[in-house]
Amino acid sequence: MRRNRLAAWRRDLVRENWVAVGDLIWPLFVHAEAKDAAIAAMPGVARLGEAGLLRGCERAVELGIPAVALFPAVAAGLKDARGSEAVNPDNLVCRSVRAVKSRFPDLGVICDVALDPYTVHGQDGIVAGGGFSKSENSSNSPNPPDLSNPPNPPCQGGFRVLNDETVEVLVEQSLVLAAAGADVLAPSDMMDGRVGRIRAALEAAGHTDVGIMAYAAKYASAFYGPFRDAVGATATGISRAGGKAGYQLDPANSDEALREVALDIAEGADSVIVKPGLPYLDIVRRVAEAFAVPVFAYQVSGEYAMLQAAAQNGWLELRPAMLESLLACKRAGAAGIWTYFAPVAAAALRADSAG
Ligand code: PBG
Repeated sequence: MRRNRLAAWRRDLVRENWVAVGDLIWPLFVHAEAKDAAIAAMPGVARLGEAGLLRGCERAVELGIPAVALFPAVAAGLKDARGSEAVNPDNLVCRSVRAVKSRFPDLGVICDVALDPYTVHGQDGIVAGGGFSKSENSSNSPNPPDLSNPPNPPCQGGFRVLNDETVEVLVEQSLVLAAAGADVLAPSDMMDGRVGRIRAALEAAGHTDVGIMAYAAKYASAFYGPFRDAVGATATGISRAGGKAGYQLDPANSDEALREVALDIAEGADSVIVKPGLPYLDIVRRVAEAFAVPVFAYQVSGEYAMLQAAAQNGWLELRPAMLESLLACKRAGAAGIWTYFAPVAAAALRADSAG
């Protein structure tokens, strides 16, 4: 076996998988402040003001990164129980999309569809129970109940996220994002039936070219912790690990992910996401084998934080560990990868191919 491994040129000839810059999607956080603000648990990542956002996008274009994904950190005063700001056509993320698309029309812009950046409780949809009533959802509720100790699972006995009421708002949110110029919508809320409803609404409104990359297999993961801090979606203290177990997939399940993917494809998704990435590569592999649809792995905030923390302690070498983690996603069958390492990885890949 070692003959094929003896020299770099021999390894080049037999290599089965590789990461290309064109595989990368770069998630960016935006806020309404002028200055960028570092995110403690994500070294090298910041909430960007408009100037910082445009600089980041310019870098993406220079490096050849195909698309960015925009995540808003919404001011606390704009949040309410039903996430009303999500459907404001002039909200932060819509303004950001317009700014990016007018400067960089050929850079892909992806937007999350979900209410968590906009709700006081940080859940992805409209909730009932746990101190929230349906009527409270219609207006600003100044004193949201303390959800720091949600019952587990939260849909039994305590508050729960209402599916159909939430889907109505997600459809409105999608139309607002499409009108602002988003190229692809990525529903990350895990409500049932939302992909079909969003697709139909986009068609009816004439947004026939706007794609849907569905977070089809999104797990109730502890690895989203740094992200929730980054967008300020921990306001009323959803337990970082278990607070969304009433609608996100159970990490114990794998067949269930295939059912989710099948439904999203049937409803009109153009591609699907498995999330998190590295701990769920078995799911990426199963989805890639079962469906002829592009599947993307999302290397989430906690995965990024782990690698950065180990590197900062001198316990791992960042560059090769980062590239290996991305390559592993490709080997599992991913068409591409959402990663906060995108610009660093792209620069490393370009340096490698130049050398
Ligand atoms: C929100 C959303 C989350 C992520 C992407 N969209 C967090 C969550 O569901 O709580 C996680 C991204 C990351 O951790 O990098 N719907």
